Amino acid sequence: KLLPAPGGPLRGKRIVITAGPTHEPLDPVRFIGNRSSGKQGYAIAAACRRAGAEVTVVSGPVSLPAPSGCEMVRVETARQMLAACEELMPSDVFIACAAVADYRPALETKHKVKKERGGLTAIDLIENPDILREIASRSANRPGLVIGFAAETDDVLGHAESKMKRKGCDWIVANDVSPGRPAMGGDQNEVTVLGFEGDKTLPLMSKDALGDMLAAMIGRALGG
Ligand code: CTP
Ligand code: CA
Repeated sequence: KLLPAPGGPLRGKRIVITAGPTHEPLDPVRFIGNRSSGKQGYAIAAACRRAGAEVTVVSGPVSLPAPSGCEMVRVETARQMLAACEELMPSDVFIACAAVADYRPALETKHKVKKERGGLTAIDLIENPDILREIASRSANRPGLVIGFAAETDDVLGHAESKMKRKGCDWIVANDVSPGRPAMGGDQNEVTVLGFEGDKTLPLMSKDALGDMLAAMIGRALGG
């Protein structure tokens, strides 16, 4: 069902990318989620495809059309996202663009929580698996290039640098998500890519343009 890969610097490369938020269920009608639109991840996927890669997007719930020519695996929770990514290994490149929920409700009830049965006044949370760290620390079949994202509100580069070390990824794309900054939900992004030929600070640009830029950088890193 996928069209043959176009020629380009990423021709023949397999890329797996996570995108969008995760939804962590509380009961059949409620979940904990976040404001990720999925736009940046989908833009990177489309750009890598245009550059010739075979791209699979492991996507949380978003309201965007599938990026053209990419294979889609749709998931809801962090645990499903991790399982889907592991199943897709090995790949040449792994890009963690999803805003994975750090925690999930410790209990998921099969029945809708009802006010007259005591309702819900607090939610116990447990930590979700760290998908980026799991993939970056694989002993077998680790992708040759693992790229993470770091959305921060203060000491952006400092936090991003330690995040890159902690998770074991090769590059981290750092952006400032303070109120009034472009990234969250918008069509533009302004980032620094740590780990690529030293660090590379890019100007404010559209998420599509940043996708093309990253695809070109990946092509260079893979020697294409
Ligand atoms: N990430 C992931 N799985 C998680 C949490 C994060 O794969 N459970 C990935 C994100 O996709 C991103 C990177 O890790 O590429 C950094 O995510 P971020 O939320 O900034 O890092 P955390 O380690 O969760 O730290 P914090 O939210 O406390 O800043
Ligand atoms: Ca987080």
